[in-house]
Amino acid sequence: MAVRLLTLLIAFLSLGQTTLNAYVAQTNPGGNLYLVNRTYLLDKEYVPPDLVKPGVLCKYGDITMRQEAAAALKNMFDSAQAEQGYILQAVSGYRAYNTQSAIYKRKIDSTGSQRKAQLLVAPPGASEHQLGLAMDIGRKSNTNLTKGFGASEEGLWVAENAHRFGFIIRYKEGWTDITGYAYEPWHVRFVGKEHAARIFQLDIPLEDYVNQLQTAMKAGLLGEGREL
Ligand code: DAL
Ligand code: ZN
Repeated sequence: MAVRLLTLLIAFLSLGQTTLNAYVAQTNPGGNLYLVNRTYLLDKEYVPPDLVKPGVLCKYGDITMRQEAAAALKNMFDSAQAEQGYILQAVSGYRAYNTQSAIYKRKIDSTGSQRKAQLLVAPPGASEHQLGLAMDIGRKSNTNLTKGFGASEEGLWVAENAHRFGFIIRYKEGWTDITGYAYEPWHVRFVGKEHAARIFQLDIPLEDYVNQLQTAMKAGLLGEGREL
């Protein structure tokens, strides 16, 4: 446990804060670890600074994400094809606050229940898609965002390999109590290679990882006799 906390602390100390922190109510312990969920909301006005088209096969022409994440996504898609012959397709990337709001309202209408809707779609301000660091992905042959993607060869490959490119499967099966969302094998979130590898290894939700990092940071700072 002590070694794990130390590793997390070192990972934290090696990464800087970015200007995005100004827009996130809380919380980013470092790098691209911004935790956005129904507790930690993005400002209505927040728009990522460096949105680009990812240069991969896209279902729609207006799909974008942040530059570093886009390059990593391209790397992942290219590797899936080169290593396995799998052709992945981007389905939904950056979503503005108002777009998320419209999608959320539509889901409430289609499910007839806010309780059901919010398991599937984040309310405005609560979506990682507004961060520009998340992408919903499918196959060239089938872009349905369903559990079926997770059971497909391509989905299984993504689950096992996304961390090599800096992505995590953000909403895994069985994590609903912590993440607040149903299983979404298609939603990959960019956190950077180091953290993605560690999160993959620990097999824990981002909420828990961020919490552990903050505990480690607190312990480290206290250990050095500094005020938090
Ligand atoms: N479907 C995910 C939770 C979102 O709306 O951001
Ligand atoms: Zn998504």
